[in-house]
Amino acid sequence: QPVGRDGLAAYIRDVPDYPQPGVLFKDITPLLADAAAFAATVDALAELAGDVDAVVGIEARGFMLAAPVAFRAGAGFVPVRKAGKLPAPTLSAAYALEYGEAVLELREGTLAPGARVLVVDDVLATGGTLAATVGLLERSGAQVVGIAVLLEIAALGGRQALPGRSISALLQA
Ligand code: PRP
Ligand code: MG
Repeated sequence: QPVGRDGLAAYIRDVPDYPQPGVLFKDITPLLADAAAFAATVDALAELAGDVDAVVGIEARGFMLAAPVAFRAGAGFVPVRKAGKLPAPTLSAAYALEYGEAVLELREGTLAPGARVLVVDDVLATGGTLAATVGLLERSGAQVVGIAVLLEIAALGGRQALPGRSISALLQA
């Protein structure tokens, strides 16, 4: 039985006070584990890709969606990783997370100058993760033509961290 876009919400589990008190964690593992829901998600995100050279995924949950989206869209896949996982030369960007702080890295030279990319992640919350990623990509000379997420938590105002960007969310929380 195919799962429509609105049906996807049923596969995201709300976990209160995880990983810290006061945080409502959006667990996408039920969606990934369901063949129909996973396929519907990947298909819907791939439709947003258009004519891109690569789909960029953000470690770790972004990888789970961006790699199959890239395959489905006939594009390459490029990982943006947490610090210390990629060999030099890398570009890095520090960012504040809803819970904690982190550094993301992109391997220099992975993307050709002017490459057109779609950035995919699971959740847009405060927007810190995606803003850092877009910054890395543009410093590397790539062209970010779109951002696509499974779920946007609109109350956290992530779009304000990404002014002027084209952002598509399959679901709103
Ligand atoms: C989560 C989520 C998004 C990000 C959204 O990742 O997967 O990448 O937070 O938050 P923001 O919009 O406030 O930046 P997290 O860093 O928890 O790690 P993971 O993907 O490795 O699980
Ligand atoms: Mg993440």
